[in-house]
This record gives sequence, structure tokens and C-alpha cells, in this order.
Amino acid sequence: MKRINKSMNKYTNKNDVNKNDKNKNDANKNDTMTTIRALKIGDVTIKNNLLLAPMAGVTDLAFRLLCREHGAGLLGMEMVSAKAVLYGNKNTETLLEVHPEERPVSLQLFGSDPAIISEIAARIEARPFDILDLNMGCPVPKVVNNGEGSALMKDPRLAGAIIEQTVKAIHKPVTVKIRKGYHAAEANAVEIARIAEQSGAAAITVHGRTREQFYAGEADWEIIAAVKDAVKIPVIGNGDVTDGLSAAAMLLKTRCDGIMIGRAARGNPWIFEQIATYLESGRGSAKPSLQEICATIIKHASRLVQYKGEYTGIREMRKHVAWYTAGYPHSAGLRRKVNEIETFAQLEAMVANLSHIL
Ligand SMILES: Cc1cc2nc3c(=O)[nH]c(=O)nc-3n(C[C@H](O)[C@H](O)[C@H](O)COP(=O)(O)O)c2cc1C
Repeated sequence: MKRINKSMNKYTNKNDVNKNDKNKNDANKNDTMTTIRALKIGDVTIKNNLLLAPMAGVTDLAFRLLCREHGAGLLGMEMVSAKAVLYGNKNTETLLEVHPEERPVSLQLFGSDPAIISEIAARIEARPFDILDLNMGCPVPKVVNNGEGSALMKDPRLAGAIIEQTVKAIHKPVTVKIRKGYHAAEANAVEIARIAEQSGAAAITVHGRTREQFYAGEADWEIIAAVKDAVKIPVIGNGDVTDGLSAAAMLLKTRCDGIMIGRAARGNPWIFEQIATYLESGRGSAKPSLQEICATIIKHASRLVQYKGEYTGIREMRKHVAWYTAGYPHSAGLRRKVNEIETFAQLEAMVANLSHIL
């Protein structure tokens, strides 16, 4: 663990969190904080505190199963519109699909009407997900302009009503995912987190960026530490964790109970076991071999085809292939080739030839 603390010098200026870190001189506490540990959310026990972030267009069933196999503790599903479920939109059925082998898994709803969200939560509760998450962080204009996603951070009373009514409507734990705030000038994550706790939320995830930032700039880990100080429910830190070192740094600097990993998991489901190895031993992990990447691409694609059919599955697989192979010298050329692929057989042929293309 000393090795971890030493190598984390790289992060010591990130948001100057150490200034606030009450435990900064307590090496023993630091050791406990940066170890991998089980996480309890309501009555759900999660084997470790490494969570896959919900990502629309990425964390579908096929990808979640891979992250489960590579050590993620809790899997985040793609956000689902409560209104779309209410109106029986046929695309939502795929989004709501949960596989018994992937549990524990968290299903995320977004919306702005407490009556609709709580009714939909109750209607779908019998499905085999474990935790219901409420999205209060989505920055996309078409969501925000409906008063949904991160727009709810501008209306703490409505946010509280949504959480309270949903908690009353179902037995499963309800969690909330927020951002630092809507604007930097109104960074009210602490206020919303307190409201969430008072309204019965079982945990809160804080993405350390404002809505204004979308995904640009550095995530502010100080706000995660401030939320951790303000509430007793588990706090999940999110934003800019890309490897074992940054995971250890976030745990140390924010004292958060769990870490949520988003973009760094794309094309890299191995990240969960890599972080676990680092937190347990201080050791880095070798990158997966090209052979392993090829085998994973085929496994991922065959599941996508199984769940979504060949037409959609292969088209959706194109972006995943680009993520799996990013960083190889000829990955740009491969991206062009992969965008022309239409069938599983073509993909298999391309993957068999990958060592020559890259
Ligand atoms: C393509 C994409 C889709 C996302 N979809 C969702 C979503 O459905 N629900 C949600 O709460 N956050 C969503 N997010 C935000 C992530 O969950 C996460 O908060 C963000 O990427 C920051 O974490 P990171 O720095 O580890 O990527 C999405 C992010 C990306 C890049």
C-alpha cells in the first residue's frame, strides 16, 4: 500500500483535496480507504466497490456481462425514460432486459414527474434488477429541456419529491446519480445529496462535473469529498478514474465508499480486475494481449447478435471494435474498415486478420 501512496504523487494537486482531507496524515486509515471492499446499498451486498457507470449506447446486456466476468461489483444499465415505459415504447423493452447472471445490476430511470416515475418504478419492480437508480445528471439538451436529468439539480424540491415518492413506491433500494451542480456558480451537489438522504435514498453517486461541462475538463473530486462529509449513506465517486492509480487516488482523496467507472471501461472491460489487482497489491497489470482482445471482440459481438439480431448487433459492434483497438498503430485504418462490416462472418474474418491490420 505504501507503493500506492508514493505513486499517487501524480494526483496530489488534483483539486487540492488533500487540503480538506481530515485523514491525510493517518497512514493506517489511508490503507483501509484504498483497499477493495464489499459495498452495501440498502439490503444489497455488492462484492466489491467498483461500479460500471450507466452509459446510454454502451452498457447494454452484452457489454455488462463482459464487465461482470472481469470483476465489476455493480453494473449500471443504460438510462430508460419513465415516460417511454409508460407509453409502451417498444425500444424500452431491450433497455429493461436483465440477465440472471449479471446481477447485481442497477436499472436507471429518468423523468421529471414524481407520479410517473414512482408508478413506473412500481410497475417494473418485479423484474430481476437489484437497485433502482434515478438519473439527475444527464446533460443532453433534449433531456434537460424537458426538465429531466441534470435539470433536476436546479429544482431541489422536485428532486426530493421524485426520490421520496419512488422510495415509497418500491421495496428495492433507490439510489440517485447527480453531478457537481448545473452551473459552476451553483454547485449544489451537497444540498441535493442531503435531500436525497432525507428522502430515503440508499446511496448517491456524484459525477464531479457540472452540467455546463458535459464531459469536458477535469472532474472535481473535492465536491465528492464534500458530499461524503455531508451524508451517512454510501457515496460513490465518479469522474476521471482510468486505472488503478487514479482509483486509489479517488478513494484516498474523497474517502468515497465506491468508485464508478465510465468511459475508461469502453473497449476495456478488464479495467475492473486491473483496478482490483492494484488496490490489493499495488501492482499494475499488463494490457490484454491482442489474442485476448480478439477473443473478447468475438464474444461481445456474438452476444450483441444474440440479443439484438445481426443487423443491429454488428452495426453497434463497430464502435466497440474501435474502442478495443484504440492505441494500436493502425487503428484509424481499422476503423474505416470496420464501418463497412455488416455481418458476423465478415467481423470474424476481419478479427482473424487483426494482427496484420494493426
Ligand atoms: C456515452 C455516454 C453515455 C452515458 N449515459 C449515461 C446514462 O445513461 N446515465 C447516466 O447517469 N450517466 C450517463 N453517462 C455518464 C457516465 O455515467 C459518467 O457519469 C461519466 O462518463 C463520467 O465518468 P467517467 O469520467 O468515468 O467517464 C454517460 C456517459 C457517456 C460517455
